[in-house]
Amino acid sequence: MNRIEAIERMLNALPLRRTSPKQLQAIMRGMDLSLEALSPYIAEPADLPYGRTSLFRTDAAEAVLIHLPPGTETYIHDHGASVGCARLLEGTLTNRMFRLDGYGYPCLSGEVEIEEGSYYYAPKKQIHQLRNSGPQRAVAFHLYAPAPAGKSYFPYEQVLDYVI
Ligand SMILES: [Fe+2]
Repeated sequence: MNRIEAIERMLNALPLRRTSPKQLQAIMRGMDLSLEALSPYIAEPADLPYGRTSLFRTDAAEAVLIHLPPGTETYIHDHGASVGCARLLEGTLTNRMFRLDGYGYPCLSGEVEIEEGSYYYAPKKQIHQLRNSGPQRAVAFHLYAPAPAGKSYFPYEQVLDYVI
């Protein structure tokens, strides 16, 4: 059984609906998430500013491998009705949190530096952006429950245009 099959088997055996980010973390702690085994699944950016590989997906859960080269960032987004937990396998990231203003535009409300090997969470309704300001690539394993659907992106550039 290869690494991805092991992840699939583990997730298939678990009741992931209405799961909290901390419960996802507990599941992830039981997984062997060594970068050596996952490296064949690291994707280069294509239609997104970062590489994204879906390792496993059912309605209940999705496991994704994320690759942000130096100087890249995700769009500002939420996760619909999903919650998430992630572990940074390589590099460093900044997790930038936003809240919506009265016009529905995202305003930066906080930033957290994520160190290599640490976990971070996507609670329900979180709006955020991951940024790699470091000199090396960032690779992270993300686990969502239920599988993301109806994710929203927020047009930050329009805010800047408006302000300027
Ligand atoms: Fe996210």
